[in-house]
Parts: sequence; C-alpha cells; structure tokens
Amino acid sequence: MSDESEVLLQAKQEFQAPANIIANAAISEAGYEKLYAESIADPEKFWAKIASEELHWHKKWDTVLEWNYPDYKWFSGGELNITYNCLDRHIAGGKENTLAYIYTNEEGKEERITYGELLKKVNKFANGLKEMGVVKGDRITVYMPLTIEQIVAILACARIGAIHSVVYAGFSASALRLRIEESQSKVIICSAYTKRRGKIILLKSVVDEAVDGLVYVEKIIVHQREEKFELVEKEVDYYDFIIDQSDEMTAEPMDAEQPLFILYTSGTTGKPKGVLHTTGGYNLFTHYTTRLAFDLKPDDIYWCTADTGWVTGHSYIVYGPLSNGATSLIFEGAPDFPDPGVWWGLIEKYKVTKFYTAPTAVRLFMKYGEAWPAKYDLSSLKILGSVGEPINPEAWLWYYKNIGRNNCVVIDTWWQTETGGHMILSLPACKQKPGRAGRPFFGVETDVVNKNGESLPANTVGLLVIKKPWPSALRTCYNDAPRFQQYWTEMKGFYFAGDLATKDEDGFIMILGRSDDVLNVSGHRIGTAEVESALVSCESIAEAAVIGKPHEIKGQSIKAFVILRQGVVPSETLLQTVKNHVRNELGAIGMPDEIEFVDKLPKTRSGKIMRRVLKAKELGTEIGDVSTLED
Ligand code: WTA
Repeated sequence: MSDESEVLLQAKQEFQAPANIIANAAISEAGYEKLYAESIADPEKFWAKIASEELHWHKKWDTVLEWNYPDYKWFSGGELNITYNCLDRHIAGGKENTLAYIYTNEEGKEERITYGELLKKVNKFANGLKEMGVVKGDRITVYMPLTIEQIVAILACARIGAIHSVVYAGFSASALRLRIEESQSKVIICSAYTKRRGKIILLKSVVDEAVDGLVYVEKIIVHQREEKFELVEKEVDYYDFIIDQSDEMTAEPMDAEQPLFILYTSGTTGKPKGVLHTTGGYNLFTHYTTRLAFDLKPDDIYWCTADTGWVTGHSYIVYGPLSNGATSLIFEGAPDFPDPGVWWGLIEKYKVTKFYTAPTAVRLFMKYGEAWPAKYDLSSLKILGSVGEPINPEAWLWYYKNIGRNNCVVIDTWWQTETGGHMILSLPACKQKPGRAGRPFFGVETDVVNKNGESLPANTVGLLVIKKPWPSALRTCYNDAPRFQQYWTEMKGFYFAGDLATKDEDGFIMILGRSDDVLNVSGHRIGTAEVESALVSCESIAEAAVIGKPHEIKGQSIKAFVILRQGVVPSETLLQTVKNHVRNELGAIGMPDEIEFVDKLPKTRSGKIMRRVLKAKELGTEIGDVSTLED
C-alpha cells in the first residue's frame, strides 16, 4: 500500500464490510437496529421465537424466563439434548457426509471427520461411559490437547448429561488437582502427551501427580496416541474401553437447566471459580451468536484458533459451530512454529473463510512483520474476529490490512467465561469502529454506570454492567453460590462484568480493561489498556503492560513494561521518544513515569498479561495465585 493510502486508513474512524458481505449477510445495519429494539422491548418473546426457529426441542418449555433474583432459569420445563442439536439433526437433514472438523498439527498430520462419523464416535464413547457407571450429573475432568478425541470426549459427556470440566492441558499438576477436587470428578479423561514447538509435553504424568491419593477418582481414560504403554489400576485405554460398544444411542432428552459444564476461571481474589453453564440457554445463545457473528454460510471453512481449555473453545470451537453444522479447522500447535507463517499457510491450504483469534496473536505477528503473511494467498478470508482483550486500533488496522488485505471485515467480540457467548460485538454487515468492541447483541441490555449503578453520559469511563439475565448467563459458581451472587449484588442488581468501558453517541462500547487495573493519576482515571494501546502504537514497540504505583503527590504513577520489536535497540533517546509518543497520543496524564524494557511479560496461558504479577514484583508484595501463569 502507498504511504498516502496508509495515512487515509489510519485516519478512518468507521469501516464498512465489503459490498459482497453486506449484500449477503443475515443481519444488515438497519436490521440490527430494528431487531435489537424488538429484542429489548420483549426479550422473552424474542428468545422464544429464536429458540423455536434455531433449535430442536424434545419438549417445549413452559416458561421462557423465570427470574427469582439473583437466580434465573431459561426455558423451564423444556427438554433438549445439545448433542442432538450438534449432530443428529444435521444427519437427519442430509449432512451426514459434511465435514465437522479438519484436524491438523505441527507435523502436518491431517484427520477429517464428518458429522456422521463424529456421531458414531460420540455414541460409542457415551455408551462406554454409561457402562462405566457414569450417570447424569457426575463430573468428568478432561485434560487433553485440541484433538478430535478431546471433542468426542466432551460431547459424549454432554450426550448422557455428565458435567464436563475441561482443564487447559498446560495447567500444572497442582492446578489440575485443585480443579479435580473442587468438582469432585469421578472420571478423568486425558491424553498421554501433546506436541508443541517440536517437543513432547507429557500430560499423563501430570495427571498421575494430580490424582495421587484422590480416592473418589474411579477411572482414568487415557488417549495413548502413537506410543502405547502399560496401564495400571484405574486406567483404561481410550479406544479399548469402547471397542465393544455400539455406535448407536438415542439422545436422551435433558432438562433445559441440566448442567452442561463447569469451567474454572480466575477471579480477582481467591481460588478459581467454577463457572457453571446449563443446556438450553447456552445451546441457543452460542448457536445464534456463532451464526450471526461469523455470518455462517454452507461452504464456509471456519477456524477459531483458541484452545478448548478456555471458554472460547467451548462456545466457538465445539458447541456453536457444531450446532450450526459448520466445518471447522482445528490445529494442535503454536502460532509461530516452525515459523511465523504457519497459520497463514493453513489458511491458504484449507481456504479458511472465517477466522477468529486474539489481539495478543495479532500483536505477535506484528512483531514478526508483514512479510510473513504477505507470502501466502489469504484471499479466501471474509470475516476476521477478535476476542479476549481490547484490540487497539493499530492492531485492528494491521489485522485488517495485512491479513484481511483491506477486503475483509474485522469484528471484535466482547464476552466472558461467565457470559457463555458474545455480549458486545460488531456484526459483520454493520459499521465497525477500530478499537471499539461494538454494540450489544440481541436481548442483551448493557450500560456504563458509576459506582452507584447510575447510568453515565456518553464518552465517560465507567463500569460495564448487563441489566438483565440472558440465556447463556452463568447459573452459579459450582459449590460456591455466594460468589455467583456477587455478580448480581455488587452493582444495584445488574450483572457486574468487572470491566471498564465507555459508550459513544452511537452506542458503541469501548472496553478499557478490567476495573481492577484502573489507574488514578492526579485524580484522572486512566485505563491501563489506554496507555498500553498508546505505547504499542509506537513503531518500535511490540507489546506493553502498564501498572499503577503509589505516588506521594499524584496518588498513582504509571510504570510501563515494554517489549521492543525485533531489531530495535533500547537507548535513552528511545525512552524519550516513547514518552513523547504517549504524550502525543494520550496527553501528559497518560505518560508513563517509568519505562522498563523487558524481553517477556507474565501472561496467562490464554495470553492475558498478568499486570498483578508485574505490580507485585515491582512493589515487593505478595504475588498471590499464579496457577494460570504461562511460564
Ligand atoms: C476481556 C474470554 C476487550 C475482558 C472470552 C473480559 C475483552 C475478560 C474482550 C473475560 C474484547 C474479552 N475486548 N476485552 N473483545 N473479550 N475481554 O473469561 O476484560 O477469559 O472481562 O473470556 O476478557 O475473559 P474470559
């Protein structure tokens, strides 16, 4: 692109999707506004209609929403089976031979599985679990890498009403043990190992350590992969234990409020919380958001780069795409191994049309430079999604230009483990504003409020709340109802998301980061994300993390930890340049008092920077729970 068009691109505040996307999209800009207004005027009527249109119900519900504050139930009296919606109904609809997943890994191994084959595998596995004595409501911990075997295990649990608790296969033995203990899982399903960056990472030995002495763990099902080894005591082989099982099984109708899964996620304090989701509302919401956010079409190849160990994998690799009968690519590997072109090579090879990743990945690729994606044909791409943290306008534009080649739409999606699915996003045919997550999804009433829960005027920083329950809202924290109640009691009866946000005149919401990371410098509120965004917009910087430090006069001062782009050498002059840059972007109040050049930032395994850890180190205080730390 010429320098001139680059400048024009940077200056643009609003983007429209290419004409062919707008022309064929399920929801237009005007359609969004109309349907949103309807969905808020009467959410129960809205969701009842969508639920009848989009899902198969074995029995229709009696009540759409029962709200006994702070508890709520959706589709009470209704019965469905999420795996019926994900598998059987597509086969009944003639999609038996449609691919559900294309699996590939670092070594280029490939496995393809159709909806017909997937159902048979799930049935066999579910029959095996039943024979093992697993009954509805039992908890099963899954500790496996992203493989077809893992997805089969997850779906088999759901098919018989066992509650899965997937633990990211990078967690340590003690973190895994904690999650097994909290959920009192009687069965563990694990893989022997995974391969990452060419190295074998043993998983089974982590499980051995984690379950040591846990008498209630009755069975450990081991996916052995290439090498077989001798299994002892409670252990059974993933394939052997189902060898004689039938590949047929009728999907048993489940109560709409039957618990589907627990997913442990970190809070600001204490042990991780076991966020619990149930069947009906979750199926509906993830189905509908997947369909609309990615504007799914029958010939799409969809790729979400998340791991199934996180909520994004649950909702947008497993349940949402399957419920829609989509074909997904899954990749067991790192984004930059054997080289930073690996993802782009996969997009070229499989002609991926819809792609969903995290800003941290985008910034990683920015660091490697645009020459890498430029080597590949990415012309199949249509929609590029972002999730997990605020996507700063520079990363948005880089993604738009270097991956989307100015011919795709970039959609941002804000949501949380607790929300089950997308809450705020920019639907593909609607206008997009780089750096702003977008507008609320149908039936979701959001607001930005002050500490007293009062609505704030446009462009004022406040707390993000959701005013009423939505179908895929967490139902509780497993065995910890008080922690669940906190979400709804902290902020005047609204759901308290814990994020800072602003809303502009068009209703576009910008997420500024967690409210616990807010800085107050000389009485000015500054989101750490704002400063970081300013820092990474500096051409010599790849990544940045900002913390607040107590300051005698200003209240807080700002310290920035900065990773430089490859080839950039730290110097006193550079330090000044960076400071001036931030001053120009944000004003003097946002300018870091201190900047430290570092090689690495502490991150959770899902890629979030742990500012808490930086802060504790800087201030010499207790670091607290670091079980989610990457290294
Ligand atoms: C952050 C991940 C800005 C936010 C799906 C939220 C985001 C937390 C975005 C939830 C986004 C997620 N823009 N921030 N598009 N998406 N977040 O539970 O702070 O792992 O509260 O769910 O991530 O993280 P979680």
